[in-house]
Amino acid sequence: MNIKFTFATKIPKGFVRVRITESSDTETVIKNGKKEILVGAGPKKEMTGRKLQILPRKVIAAAKSAKVKNITLDLEDFDFPSLKIPKNEIAEIVGINLDLANFEFVKYKTKPKEGWGFVERVLVLGADKDEQKSIKRGVLVADYVNFCRKLANTPGGEMTPALLAKEIQKAAQGSGVKARVLGRRDMQRLKMGGVLGVAQGSVAEPKFIILEYSGGNKTDKPIVFVGKGITFDTGGLNLKPTSGIYEMHMDMSGGAAVASAVLLAAKLKLKKNVVALIPAAENMPSGSSYRPGDIIKTMSGKTIEVLNTDAEGRVVLSDALTYAERYNPALVVDVATLTGAAEVALGQRVSAVFSKDDKITAKLQGLGDESGDYVWPLPLWEEYEADIKGTFGDWANDAKNKFGGAITGAMFLYQFAKKYPWAHIDMAPRMTSIDGDYLAKGATGEPVRLLIKILEKY
Ligand code: BES
Ligand code: ZN
Ligand code: ZN
Repeated sequence: MNIKFTFATKIPKGFVRVRITESSDTETVIKNGKKEILVGAGPKKEMTGRKLQILPRKVIAAAKSAKVKNITLDLEDFDFPSLKIPKNEIAEIVGINLDLANFEFVKYKTKPKEGWGFVERVLVLGADKDEQKSIKRGVLVADYVNFCRKLANTPGGEMTPALLAKEIQKAAQGSGVKARVLGRRDMQRLKMGGVLGVAQGSVAEPKFIILEYSGGNKTDKPIVFVGKGITFDTGGLNLKPTSGIYEMHMDMSGGAAVASAVLLAAKLKLKKNVVALIPAAENMPSGSSYRPGDIIKTMSGKTIEVLNTDAEGRVVLSDALTYAERYNPALVVDVATLTGAAEVALGQRVSAVFSKDDKITAKLQGLGDESGDYVWPLPLWEEYEADIKGTFGDWANDAKNKFGGAITGAMFLYQFAKKYPWAHIDMAPRMTSIDGDYLAKGATGEPVRLLIKILEKY
């Protein structure tokens, strides 16, 4: 399903020409006896950055539904001067989104007789040397977004913390990224009561995955990404209902995204120091589970009063946020499928972003727009602390009222992230694709593209 890209000025045999039109429809026509696919982008003047991300995906969708394997595009067709996006960036966006649209998670399906129907080759016309480079760079970015989607889509039984660690270690081999995996013993030594507490109901051993890439100077402070790595979230003793438990093998999407971003940073040879921390555990109900009412001592020394075993993400993240302190980071960004409430607040088209520093929030929002991994701010005012004050422990892992759950979740994390500049991305709204995304069903691979932009431009 990896597209083979070539560049040329003339169209060889066996390639179907795809043209972008100002119509709103997409159709296949025969012109001079040759098949052509016309993809409607609407009036040129009405193009937006958001629509531009979708346009190459529509191209792939149209080619697939016409059962065409080899297509030709003219990069000139993607020239939208009103957007004021540099040509190279447009080329990169085209490269990324063609490859994202061509991905499907077929590992567990029987191959149909006629094959999968992926687009195999794209011949790009009208790309100068720089644009060709940008397209290739885009393809690389897409490879790692798709790697992230593969990890997240894999069923929970085949993606336990140990298996997740193994997959990531395998990908790190020879990449220039140093991978280390802590087990239960190591975490006991570090007093990571949060990860250990959530994991204690499962037969699967928790792992704390650490990736380090040093592309910058020795003295440059690193950017640390922290990703929620719950490999299956049943809710624990506060068991989720049938509808809620569906797709909870993707509750490690944040962890998959931060790992993919660091591996991609190495591949792109970014001159930055970057770390990914993934507290990985399975949240299961059993005779050994943590219980509502339990009080957990975290690595920070602060205690958590467990009011709801289904609010497990913030419990494992508390230890990872404390562990991040040892890097003296320039910035910490955590990524988590933290709350259904974020989805209630924003719908399924954008992730929530939180920071105590409005400049960081604005920066991330801007980079989100550039990357196509959109984020939208929600408040983090001190007053919300009252909602998560513990009665018998320092902080309660669930709020005292049912309102603003994404905010109280973020406020909880903030209690463990006070020692460095920090942002929190609640990506629950973007865990899985929706119809208008023109992406295969399942994980979106967000926000890998945003994380890379942060490394490039923060
Ligand atoms: N993993 C879930 C959040 C989630 C829900 C992610 C839907 C993606 C899609 C998280 O661990 C959870 O269960 N959160 C609870 C928190 C509550 C108990 C405070 C929630 O959102 O209901
Ligand atoms: Zn949960
Ligand atoms: Zn969860």
